[in-house]
Amino acid sequence: MSAQTPVLEVRNVTKVFPGVVANQDVSLDLYAGEILALLGENGAGKSTLMNIVYGLYHPTSGEILVNGKPVTFRSPKDSIALGIGMVHQHFQLVPVMSVVDNIMLGDETTKVGLLDRKAVASRIDDLSQKYNLTVDPYSIIEDLPVGMRQRVEIIKALYRNADILILDEPTAVLTPQEIEGLFEVMGLLKSQGKAIIFITHKLKEVLRVADRIAVLRGGKVVGRADPKTATQESLASMMVGRKSSSPLTRRRRNPKRLCWNSTNLLRRMIWAIRRCGASRCRSTRARSSA
Ligand SMILES: Nc1ncnc2c1ncn2[C@@H]1O[C@H](COP(=O)(O)OP(=O)(O)O)[C@@H](O)[C@H]1O
Ligand SMILES: [Mg+2]
Repeated sequence: MSAQTPVLEVRNVTKVFPGVVANQDVSLDLYAGEILALLGENGAGKSTLMNIVYGLYHPTSGEILVNGKPVTFRSPKDSIALGIGMVHQHFQLVPVMSVVDNIMLGDETTKVGLLDRKAVASRIDDLSQKYNLTVDPYSIIEDLPVGMRQRVEIIKALYRNADILILDEPTAVLTPQEIEGLFEVMGLLKSQGKAIIFITHKLKEVLRVADRIAVLRGGKVVGRADPKTATQESLASMMVGRKSSSPLTRRRRNPKRLCWNSTNLLRRMIWAIRRCGASRCRSTRARSSA
């Protein structure tokens, strides 16, 4: 894989909002046919970084390369033209419009007309079948459950020929069954050579579907991991910046507390033995005086 040119490179990207450094000197690369998980707690800078890659924000410094070439995006129109698609945490669909109309919306390659609608609907059907993203092109978005709306967003990106797909916290809105469906779709996309950036803060999911993991904390990449060797504990430590442990192990690991506990136990035992001895003495004295 190292001989391959990455489909996407983020080089030393910093993004400063007034009073907040959302990303600091972040570097990442992404290859065709892989799932890169971007893991981090809320506020770590994941969405900001991906919004830069998608052309919604300009980086304060640093650069983005697509297929080895440096690019400057004026808007998502430019990133879409280079094969980047993004499914945001909050979907961007118009609820009162149909699937087909949403997909045609803002797409310059289609003209609004009856014939084109049919052509678009048939292409949606093709994509649905190819990637197991079943949806009726003529259904109205507001009538669809959340999982189905997400499918429409993915189809929309694929319709615009996305080879790089950014999924921002896609499992946050799904039921466990829908999550399984999404993971299947991600597997299919990967097997067809698509590159996926999967944003999440859920450790189990990352270990299950990612090929590589990058961990963001406080706007910086604080670690990279291989899901074959990483554990939930090791990832959690990177995410929060200290060793995480269960309350039980924390108690066991605290020598002071252990020491206090054993001393305390000893004191209680001595007190109990003395008390027991004293009462036996009292009862013997009482018997002998009777
Ligand atoms: N448009 C913005 N203006 C100012 N601050 C922002 C903006 N977007 C994000 N931030 C700040 O940047 C930091 C990173 O946010 P974000 O990228 O949304 O994190 P994540 O997606 O990992 O939860 C946070 O402190 C957030 O408040
Ligand atoms: Mg976010």
